[in-house]
Amino acid sequence: MNRFIIVGAGGHGKVIADNALKNGYTDIFFVDDNATGECMGFPIIGRCSELEALNDGNTDFIIGIGSNAIRKRIAEEHSINWVSLVHPSVQVAVNVSIGKGTVIMAGAVVNACAQIGEHCIINTCAVIEHDNVVGSFAHISPGAKLGGTVCVGDLTHIGIGATVSNNINICSSCIIGAGAVVVSDAVECGTYVGVPARRSE
Ligand SMILES: CC(C)(COP(=O)(O)OP(=O)(O)OC[C@H]1O[C@@H](n2cnc3c(N)ncnc32)[C@H](O)[C@@H]1OP(=O)(O)O)[C@@H](O)C(=O)NCCC(=O)NCCS
Repeated sequence: MNRFIIVGAGGHGKVIADNALKNGYTDIFFVDDNATGECMGFPIIGRCSELEALNDGNTDFIIGIGSNAIRKRIAEEHSINWVSLVHPSVQVAVNVSIGKGTVIMAGAVVNACAQIGEHCIINTCAVIEHDNVVGSFAHISPGAKLGGTVCVGDLTHIGIGATVSNNINICSSCIIGAGAVVVSDAVECGTYVGVPARRSE
């Protein structure tokens, strides 16, 4: 089993470390620009500027940072062995594609023919229904549910517990607030909250 390095020793990084353990990784390390020492007992071995030096051909990397914009910046700055990580409890149907760098957390369901881009977070118990297209660097928060044939643009954040009705398109770089219910397309970049969800800014 390769060495596993998580970029970002914060809360999201910790959940990824547990996910990695459940996937059988044993040599787990963190890299962080703002912390040293250890995280959850795993050593913090360097900074982002050292990622290329750590890319030795026997190491798998993932970004453990919740900010979509920061994940994008780090992924684009470092051409290394980014891998995807799927918790063993996740239900992944047939004909699903999952891009490199994407992490899928415990209890999520990804149904048939869904396409998930690169460096996404499909968080705890999220539901990605059939034929969804989730753009790169998107984050589908814990307990959020996307109905069938939903399209989520790059860098969009679907908040915790939000629901998106089937056949809805949400454009890039949107924020859908916690608990929102989206029943019409979000065609303009911005923050949408409430039931039904309305653009608030
Ligand atoms: C929508 C959101 C991004 C707004 O954050 P913000 O810009 O800091 O907004 P504020 O907290 O200042 O709230 C502004 C107003 O919107 C309201 N509001 C905030 N979030 C709301 C939500 N999810 N639904 C309905 N109204 C909301 C506030 O009550 C406030 O209303 P007021 O002006 O009448 O007092 C944020 O509240 C949210 O829902 N984030 C998602 C968090 C999440 O999913 N976390 C999971 C991480 S794993």
